[in-house]
Amino acid sequence: MRLILTISLLSLLAGTQYGLADEVQPDEDAIERGKAIVFERGRGNCLACHVIKGGELAGNYGPPLLKMKVRYPDRADLRSKIWDASIREPTTRMPPYGRHRILTEEEIDLVVDFIHTL
Ligand code: HEC
Repeated sequence: MRLILTISLLSLLAGTQYGLADEVQPDEDAIERGKAIVFERGRGNCLACHVIKGGELAGNYGPPLLKMKVRYPDRADLRSKIWDASIREPTTRMPPYGRHRILTEEEIDLVVDFIHTL
């Protein structure tokens, strides 16, 4: 009985969590602004190395950015990758956008909003 109660309580909590997660989905505006930063040569310039849906003249030095939400269910992991990829991949040639302040923290948030839709 206690177990059943615990399980139903847990699923109730999980349900609430999902509800909240839906509410904090980035809006279209944030996604579009993130996309602009990603594609702009003077800012993200991510197309120099990554094939990204909707982008032209992409390089293939890095892996194509696909299935990001499946591969990075935790948004924080994706953000950390962009902030400083060398944390997890010490020999990476990907520029550490946060650590080297290539992008501001706010810009990185917008970039993650967009990349997470891929
Ligand atoms: C100079 C080339 C270069 C640029 C520019 C670059 N990256 Fe990368 N990126 C790489 C390489 C190489 C890897 C693979 C090694 C690694 O995981 O660090 C990578 C890996 C990644 C990954 C992990 C992909 C996976 O399959 O797990 C993500 C996400 C990513 N980059 C996002 C970005 C974003 C967003 C930008 C622009 C803000 C960007 N990259 C700019 C070279 C680059």
